[in-house]
Amino acid sequence: MKVIVFATNNEHKLSEVRQILSGMFEVKSLKEIGCFEELPETHETLHENAVQKAEYVKEHYGYDCFADDTGLEVATLNGKPGVYSARYASISEGDWKAKDGDHDSEQNMKKLLHMLNGKENRSAQFKTVIAWLVGNEKHLFEGIVTGDITKERHGAEGFGYDPIFQPTGYDVTFAEMSAEEKNSISHRGRAIQKLMEFLNK
Ligand code: IMP
Repeated sequence: MKVIVFATNNEHKLSEVRQILSGMFEVKSLKEIGCFEELPETHETLHENAVQKAEYVKEHYGYDCFADDTGLEVATLNGKPGVYSARYASISEGDWKAKDGDHDSEQNMKKLLHMLNGKENRSAQFKTVIAWLVGNEKHLFEGIVTGDITKERHGAEGFGYDPIFQPTGYDVTFAEMSAEEKNSISHRGRAIQKLMEFLNK
């Protein structure tokens, strides 16, 4: 089986992607190639951040690889938190005082629910960009899923903002779905499908 490095140590993302690519590719994580550092994500767009992470791994570890960057874009907040989704709670805004720590999903959800308090329009979309760097080739794949931000958390599956994201056409959140169900409609699932179609050409 072909080996692909996925430039992440996020166990949730890894298991989602491994499930999607199972039987086709062996997906290695950063840990499995001896990379234990936090990858840089210093740009203002998902595209640039995904490319930055993949290029970092290629440059420093010598592997062909792919990286993803994901943002939750909320219409009434002009697309925020977007590229700042991972550290949303650590940004002071309105009457929200910055909380310590990046990647704190509980605090991130708390802030988002706070910012949407009393708002009628709760529509949002998750967007994933995958950067694929193999040899001298660079390809980008995008996946989007639309939905609404619920008023409360529901469900215990998944990760990140899953308990408050209800995809269009469903009456449950991502955190109430099985991994298979989420993958079949999710932003990352759709981006990976595009990557697979490209690889299978
Ligand atoms: P990143 O791609 O790891 O930078 O993700 C940015 C932020 O979005 C983090 O706070 C993640 O927890 C969150 N996130 C990424 N993918 C998902 C998802 O599939 N569901 C819910 N939250 C996600």
